[in-house]
Amino acid sequence: MIHQKRRHTLLNQLDSNAVVVISTNPEQNRSGDVNYPFRAHSDFYYLTGFQEPEALAVFSKDNYTIFLRPKDKAREIWSGKRLGIDNASNVLKSDHAFSIDLLKEKLPQIILNNQVYFDAKTCQLDNNITRLLSSYQLKSLIPTLHEMRLIKDTLEISTMQKAANISIKAHQLAMQAVQPNMFEFEVQSIFDGYFTKNNAQHAYTAIVAGGGNACVLHYIENNKKLNKGDLILIDAGAEVDCYASDITRTFPVSGQFSPAQKQIYQIVLDAQINAINIIKPGVKINEPHKVATNTIKQDLINLGILKTGGDLSQFYMHGTGHWLGLDVHDAGQYKKNGNHRKFVAGMITTVEPGIYIHKDDKINPIYHNIGIRIEDDVLVTTSGNTVLTKSLAKEINDIESLMSQ
Ligand code: GLY
Ligand code: MN
Ligand code: MN
Repeated sequence: MIHQKRRHTLLNQLDSNAVVVISTNPEQNRSGDVNYPFRAHSDFYYLTGFQEPEALAVFSKDNYTIFLRPKDKAREIWSGKRLGIDNASNVLKSDHAFSIDLLKEKLPQIILNNQVYFDAKTCQLDNNITRLLSSYQLKSLIPTLHEMRLIKDTLEISTMQKAANISIKAHQLAMQAVQPNMFEFEVQSIFDGYFTKNNAQHAYTAIVAGGGNACVLHYIENNKKLNKGDLILIDAGAEVDCYASDITRTFPVSGQFSPAQKQIYQIVLDAQINAINIIKPGVKINEPHKVATNTIKQDLINLGILKTGGDLSQFYMHGTGHWLGLDVHDAGQYKKNGNHRKFVAGMITTVEPGIYIHKDDKINPIYHNIGIRIEDDVLVTTSGNTVLTKSLAKEINDIESLMSQ
């Protein structure tokens, strides 16, 4: 029902004779006979709830038709059950269901003289759909659809809370398991195992980075040994029912922060908490970044790491947050008419400041190779915000005490 409601809400914002044509992803080959595990296209899944590859939905105010793979006994023995044409209308609440092989014949009959909304750029299906639609003046669905995806409904929020809870537990297990001389991939396996045990996937490739590896923002090799005096940065989040969580914690391999690590960690934590605290409806979405950078800049100057008027981007070179939802970097504009938009209840954003100090002769060596990021998932509510990931330790004392248990 929720998908039907979403289709209606969408159509109510489009031309009155709109017909939407939207497809999911094809399977992706990994190598040889092996495919990657299938992941539905987020836009398609949002509007249909259907999770098989090679499908296309066509809907208007009076008609919803789904094209999908027909049943095929021989293929199903190898690669699993298919919903099939006969079950599709009942399960997906469509008016009609046809084999995807009939697209060429049926699609022109369905769309008739309507205003067609179709985004060729996001269509991955190799079915000559763009050619089939070439005689129509197409409009883009994306601006309207992605505005909808930006404001989460109650089902989406509860699913994202489930994803967050699974990630929180896995991060806690990792904090309790990490020991000097373990390899990064052994720590990653805690997330792999716990996510799988809870029927979740990774929402993105996990970053498990010891010491200076944490200063490589997209470090995913995860194959080095963890040294006693180093920090470990873990950016890992579960995906549940196609919805992401995105959490980063940084903690000491030995269980105890050094004084220098404590200094930098506390700056990042203060920046993150200050940034979260200002999030509420009506506040411009670039304000958390301003608050985080101001905190970090001033504190690094106080420590003598940054010169007054110096360039903060050598230590903090990424944004402070992004939309989170079906995609880890979720749909939705950040600006309207060239200006940063304001927070609205139902948006979910990450807040993830960091400091990354490479080896540099001009900086006191006690700070070298410290890379710290702290990332939480924040739901904007009518009265302010709720941190979906708040039960995961991030204060220095709480981390050290969890690690000693
Ligand atoms: N894990 C991806 C990100 O933090 O943006
Ligand atoms: Mn993030
Ligand atoms: Mn992240």
